[in-house]
Amino acid sequence: MPFPINRPRRLRRSKSLRRMVRETHVASQDLIDPLFVVEGSGIREEVRSMPGVFRSSVDRLPEEIEAVVAAGIPAVILFGIPAEKDALGSGAYADRGIVQQAIRRIKGLAPELTVIADLCLCEYTDHGHCGVVEGDRVLNDPTLELLARTAISQAGAGADIIAPSDMMDGRVARIRRALDENSFDEIPILSYAAKYASAFYGPFRDAAESAPSFGDRRAYQIDPANAREAMREVELDIAEGADIIMVKPALPYLDVLRRIRDRHDDLPIAAYQVSGEYAMVKAAAKAGWVDGRRVMVESLTSIKRAGADLILSYFAKEFCGLPEEMRAS
Ligand code: PBG
Repeated sequence: MPFPINRPRRLRRSKSLRRMVRETHVASQDLIDPLFVVEGSGIREEVRSMPGVFRSSVDRLPEEIEAVVAAGIPAVILFGIPAEKDALGSGAYADRGIVQQAIRRIKGLAPELTVIADLCLCEYTDHGHCGVVEGDRVLNDPTLELLARTAISQAGAGADIIAPSDMMDGRVARIRRALDENSFDEIPILSYAAKYASAFYGPFRDAAESAPSFGDRRAYQIDPANAREAMREVELDIAEGADIIMVKPALPYLDVLRRIRDRHDDLPIAAYQVSGEYAMVKAAAKAGWVDGRRVMVESLTSIKRAGADLILSYFAKEFCGLPEEMRAS
């Protein structure tokens, strides 16, 4: 029935009505807080390009973890910055590696908090690539062996979820097998299945000191122009045993997120609102060009609306600190 019978504005008249008909709500349990852990002691330094995000040494983790728990956030994902790097990224699978230390510390501080270990070699290799390098190539199958080793090491330290972000072919199957053979059959894999070769990772590479020293990651991460290819990656990862699928970055790839959600209604989907997405909002808000709080809320709501069950976001703590009426834009 057309106008004047139908007037959609009737349900937008008051704050109370808008709240009643709101379709999407972001809650603290939807969010995952990324944490950067550095070697050393007494360190808590702000990442220059990511105001409000810190790199902490293991002894300074208690204050970070206290804030996460107080905010009601159920999980953190860990990124380690080792003191030394080498060609094979041995810091990633060292028993006393930075992430292994951090996992043990966090599980001691907050046993109920879910600790997700990002699994990639790029923070640990001296060339900054996500795998074993030969000439100017990143070798797929030899990298799988190091990823499997790292997964076992992280699970052994107490990680609750393993999250491979390297984009090597077959890594989910290889990691699943390694975990199962080492009695970690109950540890889920959160796969960065649709991970794009994105310029939005810029600030993260500052924070994690993981920029490639030559070339780029286009020979293993997905071309931003491709959505069907992402669907194929997702199918493969599910077939290989992924328990949760991730899309990354989030906002520029909401179409991909929606396609995955429409095709796979039977498993959880995560989206990573990455460093560049965060930094842009912070920079524009600082310049007074946008309302930072409202853009944060609108972005997170849009990611959820597009189909994400879980959102990895540097805004996690800030969002959870808002009173309920400020959590809608
Ligand atoms: C590791 C990894 C990256 C990010 C998460 N895991 C960087 C990359 O692929 O270059 C980016 C996260 C962000 O930008 O916030 N491979």
